[in-house]
Amino acid sequence: MANALGKLSFNNKIILAPMVRVGTLPMRLLALDYGADIVYCEELIDIKMAQCERVVNDVLDTVDFIAPDERVMFRTCSKEKDRVVFQMGTADPDRALAVAQLVENDVAAIDVNMGCPKEYSTKGGMGSALLSDPEKIETILTTLVRGVSKPVTCKIRILPTLEETVSLVKRIEKTGVAAIAVHGRMKDERQRHPVHCDYIQAVAENVSIPVIANGGSQDHVKTYQDIEKFREASGASSVMLARAAMWNPSIFRSQGALPVDEAIEEYIKYAVRYDNNTFNTKYCVCQMLKDRVESPMGKQLHAAQTNAEICEVFGMTDFYKKAQADLESRKKDLQQSSSSDLFDQPVLDGDVITMAVKFERREYPPQITPKMYLLEWSRKEKMEQPVYETEQRVQDRAFQSTVLVANKKYRSTLWEKSKKFAEQAAAIVCLRTLGLPEGRIGEENSGLVNKRKREQRSRDVSQDSGITDSTNRKRRSTEPSQKEEQESNDKITVVNGSCGQTVP
Ligand SMILES: Cc1cc2nc3c(=O)[nH]c(=O)nc-3n(C[C@H](O)[C@H](O)[C@H](O)COP(=O)(O)O)c2cc1C
Repeated sequence: MANALGKLSFNNKIILAPMVRVGTLPMRLLALDYGADIVYCEELIDIKMAQCERVVNDVLDTVDFIAPDERVMFRTCSKEKDRVVFQMGTADPDRALAVAQLVENDVAAIDVNMGCPKEYSTKGGMGSALLSDPEKIETILTTLVRGVSKPVTCKIRILPTLEETVSLVKRIEKTGVAAIAVHGRMKDERQRHPVHCDYIQAVAENVSIPVIANGGSQDHVKTYQDIEKFREASGASSVMLARAAMWNPSIFRSQGALPVDEAIEEYIKYAVRYDNNTFNTKYCVCQMLKDRVESPMGKQLHAAQTNAEICEVFGMTDFYKKAQADLESRKKDLQQSSSSDLFDQPVLDGDVITMAVKFERREYPPQITPKMYLLEWSRKEKMEQPVYETEQRVQDRAFQSTVLVANKKYRSTLWEKSKKFAEQAAAIVCLRTLGLPEGRIGEENSGLVNKRKREQRSRDVSQDSGITDSTNRKRRSTEPSQKEEQESNDKITVVNGSCGQTVP
């Protein structure tokens, strides 16, 4: 796939197009299996990506980019590393660069979407709105080309005239991009309008970088052989397919497409293997079912709420169980191998006890956190509740918290992406130093938090059922919930290097 410089080449390639919701990891891997040379991810918006944390997921063997609300925005793996292109939606060169630098070591190239005509994209100046702002296009692309080590590409729609289109692509070529994908429709044209192969051809004749022809799914490309015909008709170097691949990703097979039901089954296998979001899986399978979504099977699929239920619809329950068992045993192995080297020794830094720990959400069951464990323990010991103080570093906005428990301070030496995570890390340092349980999956259950939850529930039940108990009532009115209680005495400080100032 790579050229002489070891970089992804866009010459003479068959490519999976970027598609929102469709182009997630399972579809990309499937397209590669069937013969696609390069796969683009769905468009990801720079603002959202910029807030993400890069997390190595040892259980799934993936790299995940996780938003502050813990949603996986982009999941990738080594299998596609040399062939996946990260497409972003952006209107801001600096933000685009920050995002490109965040992902560049995990992908093969970076692409900027300049073709999306949807309002959510254009109203932020992104997508096809960029087409009327060539200066901005130049700044974004030049910034990216200079700032990242991977090839940069862009995907455009054509402009109202051949001359304008050619003039724009010539300007784009000068920025140093490695290739340009041309969707042969104007921004006001819909998919039902015929694709303008003559425009793509004119672009190909006027630039020396590879041109990737796009837009042929309905009129031109119905079989693998049609891909070559579309390439010839458009005079392009490469061809990019969106809908044809969404309807049946096995279009990339040189031996001919498989019945779509086979592709669906393979797709679901990847979705389960990589713990794909259920609704995303469902969406993609529905696209493949096309008009069969109205069939009894389609309706059953609509009703499915989990990947397990999706598997059931397709008679894949045995596969699902086996895949889950494999994942569970992998999780256990990892926990066992990491537990021996997990806990380093605490180090005293001034009056603060420190350790290098990070809070990994996936290591704890939903709704259980080290902070809760620490709070419960303090209550049990009839001590003051833990007090958290958080600093934010100016240069990268990372957070570090110190927790005060029984007149001793605890802090992780590692900085976190969010204040929430920084507090959890501080709580872990305290719990580990004191040899207390912290609620991790697989840890022997101390019963600390669950017990309290049960107590709280029984109080709630007695109140709900109309039983009035003055003690309970008093407790409820004066005692905030765990969450409220822990947040009520938070303090945050912004620091720049060693000197810090308190923000009111
Ligand atoms: C479901 C769907 C989602 C799409 N999302 C994106 C996207 O995220 N980024 C992008 O540049 N184009 C997106 N497109 C446009 C396609 O990449 C492509 O330009 C268009 O569908 C024409 O190609 P085709 O004829 O092969 O379908 C999307 C198209 C579809 C059907």
